[in-house]
Amino acid sequence: MPEKVAIEMTVNGKRYEGLVEPRLSLADFLRDQLGLTGTHLGCEQGICGSCTVLFNGETVRSCLLLAVQAQGGAILRVEGLAAKAKNGAPLHPIQQGFIETLGFQCGFCTPGFLITIYEFLGENPSPSEAEIRER
Ligand code: FES
Repeated sequence: MPEKVAIEMTVNGKRYEGLVEPRLSLADFLRDQLGLTGTHLGCEQGICGSCTVLFNGETVRSCLLLAVQAQGGAILRVEGLAAKAKNGAPLHPIQQGFIETLGFQCGFCTPGFLITIYEFLGENPSPSEAEIRER
């Protein structure tokens, strides 16, 4: 059995520590060791995007990133979006928009979509329809 490695990272603004096997994915660390199950696993091969989180300000597929590679980093997951809502709103405007337009559909991949859109609007707050479709 491989030797475990001590890691620490910030998730949604809260510091966490763990002891992990070097091959453990960030997604499995978040879900199984930290009990943060808001990020979902679909394909587990980097295609579907369900597991997308923001890592040090950039989206990553948490099924492809090893937990040890996230050592010392800052992770924003879907639960952390609501904390970024303003004026006392319970949800981030992106989350509210998904509800109002039924954008969540079945909801399984919604956490990945929300984080992807959050990153996109941070880079381009007023995208054209073409830019949205491209993204
Ligand atoms: Fe599909 Fe990670 S679970 S991209």
